[in-house]
Amino acid sequence: MRLQLATWPQVDAYLAHCKSAILPIGSTEQHGPTGLIGTDALCAEAIAHRVGDMLGVMVAPTIAVGMAQHHMEFPGSMTLRPSTLMAVVRDCLLSLVRHGFRRVLLVNGHGGNAATVHAAFAETQMELDALSPRPELHTRLINWWEMPEIDRLSAELYGNSVGAHATPPELALTWALHPETADNRVLEPRLAPRGSFHGAADFRARFPDGRIGSDPSLATPAHGERMLETAAAEIARVAEGFFAVE
Ligand code: NI
Repeated sequence: MRLQLATWPQVDAYLAHCKSAILPIGSTEQHGPTGLIGTDALCAEAIAHRVGDMLGVMVAPTIAVGMAQHHMEFPGSMTLRPSTLMAVVRDCLLSLVRHGFRRVLLVNGHGGNAATVHAAFAETQMELDALSPRPELHTRLINWWEMPEIDRLSAELYGNSVGAHATPPELALTWALHPETADNRVLEPRLAPRGSFHGAADFRARFPDGRIGSDPSLATPAHGERMLETAAAEIARVAEGFFAVE
């Protein structure tokens, strides 16, 4: 069930029996020489749609540009500053609340969004505090790649070649969605360097091709199908409990 494909009377009828929504959030940023710029948004959206179908819950449009400041030395990356992203998330939540949505699950595709999204949750609650009567709102953020079943599947398929950015699980998932973009050539070095960084220029210097610790050549579209199915099933279980809160 997608908000963008519904009419307002359909949303009205939905809200009469269900106050839950899913909001996918991703990023538009480099994912190494073989990964799609849209990886984080594409993954979050596909998983959110699958979960929405499983639970019959409305899925809002994807917030496709996130906080990707550290990827800006690579062509094609786009970023919102944290304060902008916080305002975008807050305004999206307040829009949904105004119509009667009371539980919103954010399915996240990008680690760099997490701190800002949690700040946006607090900002939103403070704004609701000023209203009388105060609408109830429950929010939760789930990072799909951190689900235990995804961890298990990633370790089974890729061992210690998962890494931290431009990882085989996320590239595989996008290649399942868009098989014509699959590019699993072996990169040099095969396993990208690991470590931390500060800011965009330092990121590019330490991780010249954009990957961190990963070997995405191991990914296949068939793996991506499994990732999608596994992530959706596990997130649906968690979401069911979350959507049931009073
Ligand atoms: Ni990513």
